Amino acid sequence: MAPQGKNVEEPVSIVISAEGKHSPLEDAVRKLPLPVCSVFLDANGKVRPASFKVTDIVLHPKDPERTAKVFPLTIAKHGNCVLEAVGPDPLPTPAGKRIAVLFSGGPAPGGHNVLAGIKAALGPANVLLGIRKGPKGLLAGDVFQISGQQVQEILNTGGFDFLGTDRTKIKTPQQYEKVKETVVKNKLDGLVVVGGDDSNTNAAFIAEYFESEGVRCSVVGIPKTIDGDMAVGKFLPISFGYDTATKIYSELVGNLTQDAASAVKYWHFVKLMGRTASKITLEVALQTRPAVTLISEEIAEKDMSLDEVVGYVARVIADRRMRGINHGVILVPEGLVEFIPEMRRLIQELNKVLAEYEADVKDLPSLKHKQEFIYPRLSPGSAQLMASLPEDIQQMFILDRDDHGNVKVSQIETEKLLIDKIRYKLSEMKRHSEKYFGSGQDKIEATPDQIEKFQAASTSTQSHFLGYEGRSSKPTAFDAAFAFLLGLTAGSLVLAGKTGYMAAVTDFEGGGRVLALPLSGLIACEMRKGKEEQVIEKSLVKITSPSFSAFMKQREKWAREDLFSSPGPIQFWGPTSRQLPISVALDQGYGDYKGFDLGEEKSIVFEEGK
Ligand code: FBP
Repeated sequence: MAPQGKNVEEPVSIVISAEGKHSPLEDAVRKLPLPVCSVFLDANGKVRPASFKVTDIVLHPKDPERTAKVFPLTIAKHGNCVLEAVGPDPLPTPAGKRIAVLFSGGPAPGGHNVLAGIKAALGPANVLLGIRKGPKGLLAGDVFQISGQQVQEILNTGGFDFLGTDRTKIKTPQQYEKVKETVVKNKLDGLVVVGGDDSNTNAAFIAEYFESEGVRCSVVGIPKTIDGDMAVGKFLPISFGYDTATKIYSELVGNLTQDAASAVKYWHFVKLMGRTASKITLEVALQTRPAVTLISEEIAEKDMSLDEVVGYVARVIADRRMRGINHGVILVPEGLVEFIPEMRRLIQELNKVLAEYEADVKDLPSLKHKQEFIYPRLSPGSAQLMASLPEDIQQMFILDRDDHGNVKVSQIETEKLLIDKIRYKLSEMKRHSEKYFGSGQDKIEATPDQIEKFQAASTSTQSHFLGYEGRSSKPTAFDAAFAFLLGLTAGSLVLAGKTGYMAAVTDFEGGGRVLALPLSGLIACEMRKGKEEQVIEKSLVKITSPSFSAFMKQREKWAREDLFSSPGPIQFWGPTSRQLPISVALDQGYGDYKGFDLGEEKSIVFEEGK
């Protein structure tokens, strides 16, 4: 993918613009053409909305009976059947339709291209509207018309700043009434929600509500999240944003592995974003090959306690030290605390107590008072564990939840908690070497010389948290293309009057297959704020997946020696610009083929509406 009409070797002429967001690179990427799947191209190669057929693929929610009770009207309409785009719509594109879009949850690279895709599907005869500040703006009716020129300006740029975003959960009857007011007032024919599992759950509920109220406005979701947990097997390999974020983190972690081996004194503990799933961490590990990578899903599967996790990392450090390598990089997934069984139990108990005594806890003046109120209501094991945690972590557990009831794990300094515990463990191993080294079960085999080497060394640590810096970057070539295609899909669905679906694109290596997944077919039950709720199921790392197996086969080698690799910065054109995430390519069975092919490249130019 080269900038239009330019030889990639040609230096870009640097003009410093007076306007914001016009760095030489931003100007160059704005002009990049985008691949377009054949179902969106007419005989003259012009971009058009696609038409869909009903397939015989039916998605089954985890608890079909309960979900059928919650979404009776949308299920009666689509029967949880997947739709597939079959080609450009042979009918003339409708005119005068008004479609509004909102971003929801955390930013993810590619969001602006979703708007561009919807705009391209609508053409100049329909109106694209933006909703400012996410669901909160939908409730407040903060809607504005988006011009073709504005979309041209944000094409291939990073961030969600054109609209803004937030995490409001739409749940009360008054809130639904407000959503209806906004839709009616703005004469909307369609509402597109760009978000992760919680936001697409919002979309599913709004679609059902509109059906029950006779509001003729289609609701369509778009899978967004850097976390990679909004994915549906072969039908939706990943959400947009994941590729860019993992490439940014891999560049930084790659640099740290290089630094560790250069300075030869530091252990870099790197917490990587991903609220629940460890998908980001797994991908970064496959790209950079660090000494230790913790995967939350494996820890939960093996029922490992916090002490066992600490013991495992300390062992790797000890083993490397004995062989003269006293440095390395350790990857820690953000969501780890919720997967360690005793921590998970504690959080569940806290959720219950906090839900039951919400008002009482709120009224208590200080953290200390809250602790005194809550701890006697926990089981003895959980109360003891809670009391053993650093004060700031206790505070996060008690006080901070998002609107969907999630613990704000990005604010919990798990990497620092681990550093403290591992340092303590290593000093204990030094003091009681006879307990840990020698022959026998669970002991580390070591010669007296090696034990001496271990005891002589000390551990210098650095902690890092990589999260926010990956969420608003310019999208990679893949995310730019994928998000644009998802926008085209959502725009086409809305013009076709479809409701209660999520746009999806799959077959990344074979020209792209365009699908619409019924939102109610993706629902499962989760405990939120101590209560069971119907929410879209998160896609976690499967320890039986090809990507996890590939990691597992190599991690012992990476632990013993420095075998790291440093992927370097994102390329927007050039040798690695088409490379898919390794984990996605492996899990989708693309084999060695790791480049994407999503159709013929087109220059995207927007005509102004009348
Ligand atoms: P989404 O799933 O909403 O896209 O959020 C992703 C994420 O970046 C998580 O990885 C992280 O835990 C969370 O957002 C942080 O949220 P906040 O922006 O509210 O600090």
